[in-house]
Amino acid sequence: MGKRIGILILSIIIISCSAKSSDSNKVDGNTKLETKIDDLVANMTIEEKIGQLTLRGTSSRVKGALPDSLKQAVREGKIGAFLNVMNLDYVNELQQIAVEESPKGIPLMFSRDVIHGFKTIFPIPLGLAASWDAETAKNSARVSAVEVSSVGVRWTFSPMLDIARDSRWGRIAESPGEDPFLASVLAKAYVQGYQGDSLNNHTSLAACAKHFIGYGAAIGGRDYNTAIISEPLLRNVYLPPFAAAVNAGAQTIMTSFNEVNGVPASGNTFILDTVLRDELKFDGFVVSDWESVTEMINHGYAADEKHAAELAVNAGLDMEMTSKSYEKYIKVLIEEGKISEDQINFLVKNILRVKFKLGLFETPYVPKNHNGDLYAEDHLNKAEDAAVKSSVLLKNNDILPLKRNVKVAVIGPLASKPHEQLGTWTFDGDETHTVTPIDAFKKSSVNYDFVEGLSYSRDNSTKNFNAAIAAAKASDVILFFGGEEAILSGEAHSRSNTNLPGAQEDLIKALAKTGKPIVLIIMAGRPISISNIINDVDAVLMAWHPGTMGGIAIEKIIFGDAEPGGRLPVTWPITAGQSPIFYNHKSTGRPPKAESFVQMDSIKVGAWQSSLGNTSHYLDIGYEPQFPFGYGLSYTTFEYSDLKLSQNTISNDETLTVSATITNMGNREGEEVVQFYIQDVVGSITRPVRELKGFERILLKSGASQEVTFKISAQDLKFVNNTMKYVVEPGLFNVWIASNASTGLKTSFNYK
Ligand code: NOJ
Repeated sequence: MGKRIGILILSIIIISCSAKSSDSNKVDGNTKLETKIDDLVANMTIEEKIGQLTLRGTSSRVKGALPDSLKQAVREGKIGAFLNVMNLDYVNELQQIAVEESPKGIPLMFSRDVIHGFKTIFPIPLGLAASWDAETAKNSARVSAVEVSSVGVRWTFSPMLDIARDSRWGRIAESPGEDPFLASVLAKAYVQGYQGDSLNNHTSLAACAKHFIGYGAAIGGRDYNTAIISEPLLRNVYLPPFAAAVNAGAQTIMTSFNEVNGVPASGNTFILDTVLRDELKFDGFVVSDWESVTEMINHGYAADEKHAAELAVNAGLDMEMTSKSYEKYIKVLIEEGKISEDQINFLVKNILRVKFKLGLFETPYVPKNHNGDLYAEDHLNKAEDAAVKSSVLLKNNDILPLKRNVKVAVIGPLASKPHEQLGTWTFDGDETHTVTPIDAFKKSSVNYDFVEGLSYSRDNSTKNFNAAIAAAKASDVILFFGGEEAILSGEAHSRSNTNLPGAQEDLIKALAKTGKPIVLIIMAGRPISISNIINDVDAVLMAWHPGTMGGIAIEKIIFGDAEPGGRLPVTWPITAGQSPIFYNHKSTGRPPKAESFVQMDSIKVGAWQSSLGNTSHYLDIGYEPQFPFGYGLSYTTFEYSDLKLSQNTISNDETLTVSATITNMGNREGEEVVQFYIQDVVGSITRPVRELKGFERILLKSGASQEVTFKISAQDLKFVNNTMKYVVEPGLFNVWIASNASTGLKTSFNYK
């Protein structure tokens, strides 16, 4: 016994010694790094410093040899980073000039939007969010990093962390969805995936958390539009994913195009300096979005380019993307005393720190043996797994999974569209490697007849309807592949009407008349309003834009070789007119309820105006969404029971546990995403009706049960109040363990 304790004490001492020495190594390493950076900056001319603040983005258009003017600018140290140089020969040539011929030999940083894959394309980020699985997000980022670093790119503009509550907004496709907790889990996973175990590795990328901040709150879902966000809302909802990314070590942050409460993000001292640097202790660098510095003129915040540069520099924006206000005006602004050289030194140091951490000074070139493993089997397997985990089964009248011996009519514009399947931001994905559902059906000998009926998602022609109907009549089941082409979501691609475009609804209605069951598989960048046709179909599977391996994933799900593993990361509206719509809204003084809902057709003609007894709802569609946040069906069913709370009251640093038993009631194995929500019932500022605070994905065999436990401490109950303090307030808290945000087992406790 005594010996064992002795060994234990010894090992504790060894562990604490090594922890101490690794801490002090880190401090020493940091001090050395800072000294290196200081020495370098002390010797740089102002032109070279401005060069480091410059991200040149025009070279993707370079055809033939690189222009001499560009090479000369690099030679003079006037460019610090490039966007979109996707040719390894050009990368090497430019890097060689920077390292060997520029005055200080500072390496260039090459960047690219690798958002959900470089060559092997994963589901769009909203799809990855539907996996509710950090490992899936991390896999997508790691595979992206390994592949794109083989062409010299060491910096990607991802993860996009804008909370999105409006499906009209095209960029909801790139977002982690509507919830700050889920988005924060994903933020950390993406950063870990891109940046790897060590940044100083030729397969690691600097991640870029974007768009800082509030971009998803664009009025009416109109891209680039104004965001009006109270400071508590900013801090409670929009900031947490960025804080998670910074805590996970994200090296760069991109400012957003929008203004927040009157001040464009790229010139916003409060968000860039106070929040990001002072509070979050961010020590990487901030890059603008594409021309977002000079767009401050359009916003009516900067008078001209020179003024824009002054505002951005003083707010702490380190690197200007593509516009040239820094290049043109920093020198004169210093001479005029409008900005200080100290501030410029601060910005330059932030950038050099990242370049050093990436190991670019020691290893500026792509190692000869690094081929990126493009489309490696492991990458494709991970992409397929992600597509399975992201797919959300929204409706199933016991039709899915199909038996292998049925005859299917494959109809619809997206069954065989490799380009559309990849989704937004996939400049590099190669269509010829994309496996469409039709490719997958061919490979696995599905008995099918394929008649598109519509040749693209916006097609309004009914000329092929009869052929589609004939194919349907000759089959047992219709698989309708509908949705949106890739170009209908993403940046600058908002829609006011989010129904299935073109004549898709008409074709579905015509097919429904055959009496054959219809499985609707949606590929789209946003929740699609399907209220017009939901009763005409027997099953709905949301596949998002599922990426390279989407076809195989869908084939496996449809025929029951895989489970649709996703849950909605956003509330799915009945119509776009309900947007913005999100589960973690406030209550209002007149919360909606079934008893008080008045459907407009029941109102008498000439009725007198009265608001008495009315609540917060729409006269035509009520107040519920089509599907709630967190929703998704399985091929089995789960029962939630036996909710337990470890204690009814907690205080200070106590931790409380809540648990429930989940039982697989069906006759096949299945995965469930068990969700944990709280509500702070009364607050010094009103609190949301529910807030996600935890989730766990569990796998249960048929008939098996598992107890799932969540812990709650004061930390989980905190929020930012009206005085911008992060507080937990005494009082009653409701808790739910649930399968989605509109249901669950409920109990409550008190915080004292
Ligand atoms: C504009 C987009 O808003 C941003 O997300 C992207 O990274 C940059 N352009 C660079 O392409």
